[in-house]
Amino acid sequence: MSKPSILLTRPWPEKAQAYLEARYAVTLRDGTTLSKADLMEAMRTYDALCPTLTDRLDAEVLGTPEARVKMIANFGAGFEHIDLEAAKAAGISVSNTPGALTEATAEIALLLMLMTSRRASEAERGVRSGRWDGWKPTQFLGQSLKGKTLGLVGFGRIAQSTAQKARAALGVEIAYYSRRQAAAETEAELGARYVPSLQQLAAEADVLSLHTPGGPDTRHLVDAALLKKMKPDAIVINTARGSVINEADLAAALKDGIIGAAGLDVYEQEPKIHPDLMALDNAVLLPHLGSATIETRTDMGLRAAYNLDRFFAGEDLLDRIA
Ligand code: DGY
Repeated sequence: MSKPSILLTRPWPEKAQAYLEARYAVTLRDGTTLSKADLMEAMRTYDALCPTLTDRLDAEVLGTPEARVKMIANFGAGFEHIDLEAAKAAGISVSNTPGALTEATAEIALLLMLMTSRRASEAERGVRSGRWDGWKPTQFLGQSLKGKTLGLVGFGRIAQSTAQKARAALGVEIAYYSRRQAAAETEAELGARYVPSLQQLAAEADVLSLHTPGGPDTRHLVDAALLKKMKPDAIVINTARGSVINEADLAAALKDGIIGAAGLDVYEQEPKIHPDLMALDNAVLLPHLGSATIETRTDMGLRAAYNLDRFFAGEDLLDRIA
């Protein structure tokens, strides 16, 4: 029997790609972004697709007439770019890779907390530009996070790992807001206190770190009104999805001293970044690095591959989202 045909829309880490190539007839794109026409052609050509967050699989693409694709194994946890209802309507199974990127993303949340609170990007720019003229008692003063409140918005795997790491490494107090309160044992283990509203959490937090999925329910959760409730030296961290923050409102709040700093790894219109943010020293801007370790990206690829294996073996998927 011939091997199922799979399209990888981007190259994967070597080990994960080799695993797929040993089992499937793999076609690899050249690394450029697929247009809608390319995606529709791919829907007609392959048995399965392995997209990433840069491939927009909307209702039109998923409803491609005479489509052959019956399985989409997304390389990544977030699925804002896939219309799951349209996939279901077209009888297409979809999986993602939750769990694989928990630790790496929590690490980036901590990195951003430290970079913002200690003004690391701004200070490094000072050094590289040749403007640094020696140590001074009042130069580049940041703030210590010890004993401060880390407010987590959402309390899934990545938020909990961030809580555990930040508490152990930085000595912060943990508070969280989520639609559902976590089990008492989880709260006790992480020393986490539930706050019943986002507004209250924003007002109490010294660092507000976002860990919700993207999508219509969480779009612009952080806007001018919420930012106004925060402390003037508070820090906003986003390793979740860019759509959770209104970037124009955030840039204005950073500029006007409504809050102290922001550490961002994700953006509303990636790879575009709001020009006002680009100009601000109190915004630390990373290029969507959350899962960017060789170990994590390999695990993400392998997890997507195991979902394909399950699908083609007629078994239930490990991580079905549609
Ligand atoms: C994901 O998998 O959705 C992440 O954002 C990639 O880092």
